Amino acid sequence: MIVTTKKLFEAAYGNYAIGAYNINNLEQTMGLFQGNLDSQAPFIIQISKGARSYTHKTMLEGLIRSAEEVFPEAIFAVHLDHGDEQTCYDCIESGFYSSVMIDASHEPFEENIAITRRVVEAAHARGLVVEAELGMLGGVEEHISVAEADAKLTNPDQALEFVERTGCDSLAVAIGTSHGAYKFSGSQALRFDVLEEIQKRLPGFPLVMHGSSSVPQEEVERINAAGGKLHGAKGVDANQFKRAAQLGVTKINIDTDGRLVWTRVHREYFLEHPENIDLRKPGKIFMAEYARFIAAKNEKLGSAGQLEHVRKLLSD
Ligand code: G3H
Ligand code: 13P
Ligand code: ZN
Repeated sequence: MIVTTKKLFEAAYGNYAIGAYNINNLEQTMGLFQGNLDSQAPFIIQISKGARSYTHKTMLEGLIRSAEEVFPEAIFAVHLDHGDEQTCYDCIESGFYSSVMIDASHEPFEENIAITRRVVEAAHARGLVVEAELGMLGGVEEHISVAEADAKLTNPDQALEFVERTGCDSLAVAIGTSHGAYKFSGSQALRFDVLEEIQKRLPGFPLVMHGSSSVPQEEVERINAAGGKLHGAKGVDANQFKRAAQLGVTKINIDTDGRLVWTRVHREYFLEHPENIDLRKPGKIFMAEYARFIAAKNEKLGSAGQLEHVRKLLSD
């Protein structure tokens, strides 16, 4: 059943976070649904602009609609990840997505507000909800000063003004994470002090944490042992998810960790079976491993075991 993220956030707020997982193909879709059902978790499927153009945007819609039939118990939202204004409108019109993210965080504050406001009006008119972003996620490099690094984080006072003026339904905040496999340097970590200040100004309002892959070292070592070259890869400590959830984070975005699972499975498989040309063999292993990965992640997020509670809330 496809629902809006709003419903999922109402159920989760203050207690746990919903996993938001990016998909690009059939194998990820199968593993994603299987892992969420194995762990009895509601979830969010994220589709990026890149995913929409990897084959054809209609292919992903077809995959997800089919998965809904194959896994009728699943409860999930379909969400555009990091949309620009035009892509948001395209998804809103499609009638398939239940929420969109407008990412105008690279624009000046006033322009970010104006663009976000336009998307919110279009989305709300069609019953969709909107995630917006304020602050700059990004690699925090060694040479940048503490003041410079802080300036990129979400300003709590601006967050309140932004939400009030745009009418967005959830807000992605920059609190020290970055996208990809190379996060943090030196002693940098998640900035719970900043998150706490944001929550004080926006009590009860759903916050989103991007760039939340953990980049497990065991995964990185296995990839490198099978011929990969990932040096200095590092991620977010998944044991910090529940603390973030208590401070208002209801959605945690994870893409890179899934890519690591894919890379490890395929590198190891072909190293061990150099004679194989049957794509289904590693594909089958990947689907099972991805399902296991999703179920384990949901335990860390606290969303595991919440499916029946969410179903009950939806039917009340
Ligand atoms: O934040 C970006 C996500 O990891 C999606 O990545 O744009 O390469 O599909 P992508
Ligand atoms: P990771 O690169 O940490 O997986 O973050 C994904 C993300 O934020 C998608 O929007
Ligand atoms: Zn992101």
